[in-house]
Amino acid sequence: MTGRRVALVTGAAGGIGSAVVRALERDGLRVVASDRSSGLALDVRDTASVDRAVRHVEHAVGPIAVLVNVAGVLHAGPALETTDAQWQEVFDVNATGVFRLGRAVGACMARRGAGSIVTVGSNAAGVPRAGLAAYAASKAAAAHLTRCLGLELARHGVRCNVVSPGSTDTAMLRGLGGDPVLGSPAQFRVGIPLRRVADPADVAEAVAFLASDRARHITMHDLYVDGGAALHV
Ligand SMILES: NC(=O)c1ccc[n+]([C@@H]2O[C@H](COP(=O)([O-])OP(=O)(O)OC[C@H]3O[C@@H](n4cnc5c(N)ncnc54)[C@H](O)[C@@H]3O)[C@@H](O)[C@H]2O)c1
Repeated sequence: MTGRRVALVTGAAGGIGSAVVRALERDGLRVVASDRSSGLALDVRDTASVDRAVRHVEHAVGPIAVLVNVAGVLHAGPALETTDAQWQEVFDVNATGVFRLGRAVGACMARRGAGSIVTVGSNAAGVPRAGLAAYAASKAAAAHLTRCLGLELARHGVRCNVVSPGSTDTAMLRGLGGDPVLGSPAQFRVGIPLRRVADPADVAEAVAFLASDRARHITMHDLYVDGGAALHV
């Protein structure tokens, strides 16, 4: 057991996930880093895996004060060419995964009357993007689910917020390469008023703030960290 507040991060092996782990550790939290096959093994597609991992952390590490949903997958391609299997895979990880974690961890937090949940969405949830229909729709579902959870859990002292990154320099973005529909990562800068692709640390700072007590009066918020790309209001 630990005196430090415990945070559980999914997708922690990835670019943004590992930056979130570093930011939360810097802020003094004891962070349980989970991913499909590194750190604590937790596959967000598998309800049994999620429930088992959450029970393990609660009993062996300590009560989860902070949950950060970072796990995500990208499918890029025209909507008309997206298969059922591709659509389902993207939704299973990006949307239903957030539901599974929110349900398991949210129940523990509600019982204790405290907690903070942050979901890493995407600015693609707020603006239509050609070639990203399944991904953008799954992120919109994740963001809205997180805010609905925030409304249900507010009376239990649990805050639920969303951080919506734009193009961020990670394996996921580089994996897009020179996609014929989306263009190349270099071209993404064209639509970013601040004229740069984000570092994972830029996203992690927003997550760390919303996770912390400095944001104690903020819930159901969706914080865009995209250099202004979505012209979000
Ligand atoms: N990089 C960007 O430009 C960008 C922009 C907007 C949003 N995002 C979102 O940020 C989050 C992190 O992405 P990233 O850029 O660091 O990509 P990444 O590919 O480096 O990291 C994603 C991580 O999620 C993990 N993951 C995938 N499926 C999983 C599953 N079923 N169970 C558990 N873990 C699983 C992967 O193993 C990987 O470590 C994602 O949700 C992504 O959609 C990224």
